[in-house]
Amino acid sequence: MRMKSNGVEHYFTPKPKSKPEFKLIRAHLRGREFLFLTSAGVFSKSRIDLGTKVLVEHMILPDKGYVLDVGCGYGVIGIVAAALNPNIYVLMVDINRRAVNLAKHNIRINRVSNAEARCGSLYEPVKGMMFNCILSNPPISAGLATVRAMVTDAPKHMYDGGTLQMVVRSRVGGERIAQMLEETFGKFTVLVRRSGYRVLMAEKR
Ligand SMILES: C[S@@+](CC[C@H](N)C(=O)[O-])C[C@H]1O[C@@H](n2cnc3c(N)ncnc32)[C@H](O)[C@@H]1O
Repeated sequence: MRMKSNGVEHYFTPKPKSKPEFKLIRAHLRGREFLFLTSAGVFSKSRIDLGTKVLVEHMILPDKGYVLDVGCGYGVIGIVAAALNPNIYVLMVDINRRAVNLAKHNIRINRVSNAEARCGSLYEPVKGMMFNCILSNPPISAGLATVRAMVTDAPKHMYDGGTLQMVVRSRVGGERIAQMLEETFGKFTVLVRRSGYRVLMAEKR
């Protein structure tokens, strides 16, 4: 993926060139305290995105096994998942190298030992790996083709009984993503509706 020809930097730019301008965010999520270092050039640098919070508060984690946070940004979803259940191992992936470096730092400062972050597109950094659960606040701004690839390729990386859980904004691509889940998995459920967001969950059967 490249920067757009007009040179505008997006949160999904692979190698942001903007000055980092770091910021530390404190957050209380699922009854625990977390710290997240953020920076210019990554998604939702000033505060944790509301959709991310809705997913984190309602995601259903497996008892054990492997979890993938695809499009991890600076790491909120994957780090909270890893902290909540030490019996899972969490892989976190993002195309934005700056976001991945922040996620690596945030894994350390939150003293999470069962997670790691890798840089690359979608499932490429976890080639050959299988997951019990895939979580995502998907990159709508990167285009629906990216989100479609995320959804349609998910089953190849999921064990039977594994789930894909995504937060969508009802007014921004939500219906299209719901349709993608239905086409790929046959059906899906809505875990929660909150503040204009929905958390959708599909199971591989
Ligand atoms: C909506 S943001 C969510 C970030 C983070 N999970 C959060 O909730 O704060 C989507 C993320 O997907 C990443 N992304 C975009 N295209 C991607 C791709 N092809 N492969 C992996 N990550 C991608 C972006 O860089 C961005 O960090």
